[in-house]
Amino acid sequence: MDAAPSPLVVVSNRGPLAFTMQGDRLLTRKAAGGLVSALAPALEGVEATWIAGAITDADRRAAAQGAVDSEAARVRLLTLDEGDYRAYYDIVANSTLWYLYHGLYDRPRRPFIDRRWREAWARYRDVNLRFAEAVVEHSPQDAVVLVQDYHLSLLAPHVTKQRPDLRTVHFHHTPFCGPEDLRMLPDDVAAELVGGLASHGACGFHTRRWADAFSACCEAVLGDVPLTFVAPAAPDLDDVARVAAGTECDGHLADLEARVGDRQLIVRVDRIELSKNLLRGFHAYDELLETRPQWRGRVIFGAFVYPSRETLPDYLGYRAEVEALIARINAKWQTPAWTPIMVEATDNFPASVAALRRYDVLLVNPVRDGLNLVAKEGAAVNERDGVLALSRESGVWDELGPWALELNPFDLTATAEALHTALTMAPEERAERATGLRAAATRRGPSDWLAQQVAAAG
Ligand code: G6P
Repeated sequence: MDAAPSPLVVVSNRGPLAFTMQGDRLLTRKAAGGLVSALAPALEGVEATWIAGAITDADRRAAAQGAVDSEAARVRLLTLDEGDYRAYYDIVANSTLWYLYHGLYDRPRRPFIDRRWREAWARYRDVNLRFAEAVVEHSPQDAVVLVQDYHLSLLAPHVTKQRPDLRTVHFHHTPFCGPEDLRMLPDDVAAELVGGLASHGACGFHTRRWADAFSACCEAVLGDVPLTFVAPAAPDLDDVARVAAGTECDGHLADLEARVGDRQLIVRVDRIELSKNLLRGFHAYDELLETRPQWRGRVIFGAFVYPSRETLPDYLGYRAEVEALIARINAKWQTPAWTPIMVEATDNFPASVAALRRYDVLLVNPVRDGLNLVAKEGAAVNERDGVLALSRESGVWDELGPWALELNPFDLTATAEALHTALTMAPEERAERATGLRAAATRRGPSDWLAQQVAAAG
């Protein structure tokens, strides 16, 4: 592939393979998540090493066996102390940086920066150093090193010092915060964080908005702005099309058709994740049923929502709230012939693809999102000129916004209005928007995204 003349090294917290134990046997399958599904297909046929953390016990067993080959790359798993890993992943990456970048803090209570948090920050730094040492050890001469996401903000200074032959690029899959929000971190931590990111040859983001926010933070904290680039990721549409054409997906679609009948179908497909704004989405649906009685019995909300990050109490609590709200709305409106919200609570890709093929309305209403691949996947595989109701706070807004219905994700009355507008839209307008969405969603592929990251290495 001409986009990758140098050997590539990818570094990410979660690698391309998920391991499980069956008795004494180690089983391997493709890992879940947007990062892997966008990067792995682009790496097929490219000489690449992928360094990732050993997250589960089965991962640690695999790590003990040395390098493992996946379709995408030669995978090297890094075994980390479990306590260090929890501090790095749970406390710093997912309860601090994720909250900061997605604007999730409730300022009267959090962030809560105490001694325990500072210890976690030190362990985040240590884990980053471990990743850096692995990069130094395993990178071929003159390789391009693609560092992925907010877990790995601090490894570049060590790598560039030890291996000046390597060219490093950082890609952030999340949004970025502005300088005002960054001020919630202690000054020394903020300086170390943006300084670590700025030590890469270039820093990439899914949209201009996040890149500009990062540049503003660098200007405020470092007095200097590093090279940035904008490269929206793209789903592996060949894989989605393969799944959509498969018998498993057809089976799920038939089940769905049987449940939906001649009603309209609103769909969402999300991890149960605070930034995805599930609660306001369901409240908006409740308001739709309250204020527009014509929809009672005539529409079903298919919620393909599955648990995520269950080591975090906030996520467990959020999941309980989501489940209770769904139960309340169903109890309030259901009739013997109709359940307003149907839930598929497992991460079942063929079932999700069936829902994406069938929806009349796709609801994507995050409070903030780095990109949102589901919106692109839905636009590409939907078979009914379905309408996309899309948060203007998602990174994918830049690409799909002109063809979507705009949501202010905080305004649930307006979200209910948008659902009504989508459900009543004339067929010609649906067709016109769906054509635009399909074209925009399929314009780029995973290889385009990878090529931009590699090009940014200079
Ligand atoms: C989402 C985010 C990515 C992140 C991933 C990690 O897909 O958009 O930025 O890398 O979650 O999820 P995990 O399950 O590994 O915590």
